[in-house]
Amino acid sequence: MNIPDLTAYLNGNFAPLATLSVPVLDRGFLFGDGVYEMIPVYNRKPFRLDQHLERLAASLAAVRIANPHTPGEWRNIVETLVLRQPFDDQSVYLQVTRGAAYPRNHAFPAGTTPTVFMLADPLTPPPASLVASGIAAISQADVRWLRCNIKAISLLANVLAKQAAVDADVAETILFRDGLLIEGSASNVFVVKNGVILAPPPSHLMLTGITYDLVLELAARHGMACEVREVSEAETRNADELWLTSSGKEVLAIVALDGAPVGNGAPGPIYKTMYQHYQAFKAGVMRTGKDTA
Ligand code: PDD
Repeated sequence: MNIPDLTAYLNGNFAPLATLSVPVLDRGFLFGDGVYEMIPVYNRKPFRLDQHLERLAASLAAVRIANPHTPGEWRNIVETLVLRQPFDDQSVYLQVTRGAAYPRNHAFPAGTTPTVFMLADPLTPPPASLVASGIAAISQADVRWLRCNIKAISLLANVLAKQAAVDADVAETILFRDGLLIEGSASNVFVVKNGVILAPPPSHLMLTGITYDLVLELAARHGMACEVREVSEAETRNADELWLTSSGKEVLAIVALDGAPVGNGAPGPIYKTMYQHYQAFKAGVMRTGKDTA
């Protein structure tokens, strides 16, 4: 394993990533018992940090791990980590597990201190060529559990769905459940039909992305027609446009689904408008640090 020379954070200490380790009894390792966030950082300014910290707090509450830090403390750790990297655009991975305990027992151990790990990698937004070409996706039945609104580190079903995409030489796997569009293996999915943006409604079945929320905010702010409602698999397959959104991928057009072209097989006009709004918003955050639409 080739570990880059980066400063990371573990339980109160900043240290070279290669020197950090957690006990084998950590419940993140044994049970996937933890939650996480991925926060993009542009020009050393964390993007929508308040929203990420709110979602983190909601995930922790849902799995009954006491939040180990106040929002101010979290902000301080993230900003300190960001300042210690030699590059400006970063992807901050933040993970909290229930901590290490003996003996191994499914039930919560008493008096365990949560493990907090943070890593800042270089962030490379999708290149212009990918924005121009769009990406291809496949689909699968969503076989995950019924608490997908929790950003849990137990991601085996998502891992298998993403690997299916890699094996099919496409970028993402879109998940359908009971005839409805849910999301991608690591992204949210939007449909455009007859000029209207359609977004599956937040529920226990999907993770409400910070990017998803921002896209809806930008649509409202710029007067783009938008409906948050259940979207059927048939509507998805007959879409004029499909988009995926995530903190790392921003907004990308999906131009083929299961080998069939989406719309005319190229990124559509509404996608291009949203992409411009997204980039303008990002540029504003980079200039001013203010990240409300
Ligand atoms: N994943 N849905 C799922 C299942 C995801 O894993 C993600 C992002 C999203 C989009 O959320 P956001 O816009 O907040 O990034 C939706 C991150 C990037 C990850 O797992 O690394």
